[in-house]
Amino acid sequence: MLDLQSVASGYGETQVLHGLSLRAEQGRVLAILGRNGAGKSTTLKTIMGLLPTREGEIAFDGQKMGRTPYEIARMGIAYVPETRDIFPSLTVRENLEITAKRFGTKDSDWTMERVLDLFPRLGERMENGGTQLSGGEQQMLAIARALLMNPRLLILDEPTEGLAPIIVKLIHDKLLELKHQGLSMILVEQNFGFATSLADDVVVVSKGQAVWTGSAEEIRADEAAQHNWLGV
Ligand SMILES: Nc1ncnc2c1ncn2[C@@H]1O[C@H](COP(=O)(O)OP(=O)(O)OP(=O)(O)O)[C@@H](O)[C@H]1O
Ligand SMILES: [Mg+2]
Repeated sequence: MLDLQSVASGYGETQVLHGLSLRAEQGRVLAILGRNGAGKSTTLKTIMGLLPTREGEIAFDGQKMGRTPYEIARMGIAYVPETRDIFPSLTVRENLEITAKRFGTKDSDWTMERVLDLFPRLGERMENGGTQLSGGEQQMLAIARALLMNPRLLILDEPTEGLAPIIVKLIHDKLLELKHQGLSMILVEQNFGFATSLADDVVVVSKGQAVWTGSAEEIRADEAAQHNWLGV
């Protein structure tokens, strides 16, 4: 579904990705794992067109990737960044409505009703401003907003960062529900247990390259790989 071939990317003089290749398959969850600073977020930003691909190629369903973040979103990829990026001055309702209006169509799969079914908590917070939400609620809102874009591929950067264990469990269960509904996902996570219990496939990134590729089951059983590449 999504194919990165020998991608190079970075910030100004600093090259971060050095010929990174990976593949996310339709209907599956790919976890991108790696230590701090390995280049995981940079990979996602490059996929989303927030950083230019300096070398190599990115293809989505065999088509060359769009150039701008908007084009890429229109192709069917939704991205929840580490920073969640909800609009703080808008209410939950406004945050959701803006996206629904921009991306929804008459026969969209994801409606306001359906995202509120998935996250009833947001339904209770509709008139609250973005800044009045807890970290967990902000993450739910960020995911809900991404779903309203009716993506075929949902990309999440550390969705559990800074959240209490009970909320981590809730986010886990919601993402599992989405997976069972057939949504393709790419998940960047520091939480090894969280990532490998959701993922089908795993790629480990180190110094901007893919250094280990296999199934979630395989890496759970491979203590040497965990030790070498993740410091677990
Ligand atoms: N805006 C930036 N400008 C310059 N260098 C950056 C910038 N953002 C990240 N880097 C550098 O790029 C490298 C990879 O960063 P990246 O954010 O992709 O890592 P990561 O794998 O997501 O790590 P973490 O687990 O800490 O989120 C790091 O060395 C980082 O210092
Ligand atoms: Mg990161």
